[in-house]
Amino acid sequence: MIALVTGASSGIGRDMARYLYKLGYDIVITARNKEKLEELKQELEKFHANPSEANTQPKIEIILADLSKEEECKKLYAQTKEKVGSIDILVNNAGFGLFGRFTQTSLETELNMIDTNIKAVHILTKLFLQDMLEKNAGHILNVSSIASFLPGPLMTTYYSTKSYVLRFSQSLREELKKQKSGIKISVLCPGPVDTNFNNVAHVKFNLPQASSEKVAQYGIDKMLKNKFLIMPGISVKCTRFFSKIVPDTLLAKVSYHMQKRKEKP
Ligand SMILES: NC(=O)c1ccc[n+]([C@@H]2O[C@H](COP(=O)([O-])OP(=O)(O)OC[C@H]3O[C@@H](n4cnc5c(N)ncnc54)[C@H](OP(=O)(O)O)[C@@H]3O)[C@@H](O)[C@H]2O)c1
Repeated sequence: MIALVTGASSGIGRDMARYLYKLGYDIVITARNKEKLEELKQELEKFHANPSEANTQPKIEIILADLSKEEECKKLYAQTKEKVGSIDILVNNAGFGLFGRFTQTSLETELNMIDTNIKAVHILTKLFLQDMLEKNAGHILNVSSIASFLPGPLMTTYYSTKSYVLRFSQSLREELKKQKSGIKISVLCPGPVDTNFNNVAHVKFNLPQASSEKVAQYGIDKMLKNKFLIMPGISVKCTRFFSKIVPDTLLAKVSYHMQKRKEKP
């Protein structure tokens, strides 16, 4: 069984790759940072250091890709097919955020975010799904966020990208269900997690942050059980519940105040 994890050089993606490997999956790990991916490969290969296990040791392939670029998404698909054939699990995890007033944030960074958080998820799902359809089997786990449940002033673009990922996953799952397809779509919506996300997004979380390892394992375990909406932790589940009963205008006000507290001094 083969799993491909995007954004495997850090945080949740790295922990999902570690967990899948320990479950016995061959893994394809991808990101831009070659050093970090090689470190992960070396770390995991030591896990099966016993020579008697050499034959049963899961394989690890590294493919470098900048997923903000359409041609690199397509190249990732082609190289994966060439190196390992068709895959059983696709984890669309790579992504990043940006804090700031929309009137002041960088257009270039935001377009890059839309390309990474939305367009890459779209392209990779489209391409790998074709192979899964042929086998009528496979899992796709899209990493969204608690942000997908709410309007997100001060992180307007990020919240909007994660809404896309949730709606996209919901719609696709229903289409596949109606086709009686064996392919399973899941979406992981974590709250704050202790990763490099904050540094990249220029925020500081005031709320407690979940462990990346725990969120990753929870996400994979639930995906394998064909759970659709995967919400790690009670605070995420409560947010989902309130987002369904509180009017959007009020949600936007509350969300603004919560976001404001994340502003770095
Ligand atoms: N941390 C949180 O609080 C939180 C909460 C909810 C959802 N999430 C979501 O969880 C996912 C993982 O984030 P994280 O928290 O683990 O953050 P992270 O530690 O910063 O990891 C982000 C990963 O995405 C990859 N990535 C970013 N831009 C890329 C690009 N253009 N091409 C290829 N790979 C790219 C990075 O790899 P390279 O830099 O090596 O390319 C890295 O491996 C994201 O989708 C994020 O939105 C995070």
